[in-house]
Amino acid sequence: MEEIVDYLYTKGIDLRYYDQSFIKRRIDNRLRVRRLENYEEYIKLLCHDNNEYRELIYSLSINVTEFFRDKDTFYSIGKLPFNTEYIKIWSAGCATGEEAYTLAIIMEEMSRVKGIRYKIFATDRNNNAIEYAKKGVYDIKLLSNISKELLERYFVKYDEAHYKVTDTIKYKIEFNVGDIITSQPSNNFDIIVCRNVLIYFKQNIRDELLIKFHRLLKEKGYLILGRSEIVTNTSVNLYKCIMPLERIYMKI
Ligand SMILES: C[S@@+](CC[C@H](N)C(=O)[O-])C[C@H]1O[C@@H](n2cnc3c(N)ncnc32)[C@H](O)[C@@H]1O
Repeated sequence: MEEIVDYLYTKGIDLRYYDQSFIKRRIDNRLRVRRLENYEEYIKLLCHDNNEYRELIYSLSINVTEFFRDKDTFYSIGKLPFNTEYIKIWSAGCATGEEAYTLAIIMEEMSRVKGIRYKIFATDRNNNAIEYAKKGVYDIKLLSNISKELLERYFVKYDEAHYKVTDTIKYKIEFNVGDIITSQPSNNFDIIVCRNVLIYFKQNIRDELLIKFHRLLKEKGYLILGRSEIVTNTSVNLYKCIMPLERIYMKI
């Protein structure tokens, strides 16, 4: 296992921060698919077979996402109190952009009622995902979570099978390639959304990130995690959980 991780490191794939059991599950799955008995056989294959290398990297790059994923969480953002009229948001680990565009739709709807302004900074370490996100063009099958009303307001038909987000929301988002662990984004965020990313990291990295998010949030700013993620013991004094089911925390 270690040898495989070291080999990938020489190829520029840094898995040092990832949870070992996650990596093991993915590699074990590739062993099953290739009907191999042990890691030794697998590493031999990996070094010589480009297809296998690509398959492994693909299976380690979890970028599953969707519009309005856990929609209650997103609708709850619209109900949160803010003591500013300009809301600054970071979508950390935004994958192909669905999360950031969902946030923009929620903010846009809020601004229709409350007259707020907002800006979303969306980052992911996967360059391909960010290029995809920047285009803002999505297959119609990916839009099933969006109501007809919101679809008509924030999307235009692109071709027979695709819709494109309108410029209104597109220009409110700045997409950039960035690693959550090593990058130093600006601070004073009103909201940091980091959903379904921490689960892949080792515990000490999760703890460090929760401390980093705390530093980057404004006083009483909100941290929003994924449904299977929680603020752990080491950071329990940094955040107050205000909506447990939606995983919405407030900076203390
Ligand atoms: C499962 S997706 C979650 C996407 C979105 N946040 C959501 O919940 O729908 C995880 C994303 O985290 C990104 N990611 C993983 N490690 C990262 C890191 N160290 N820095 C930035 N992004 C990372 C992956 O590239 C992937 O796009």
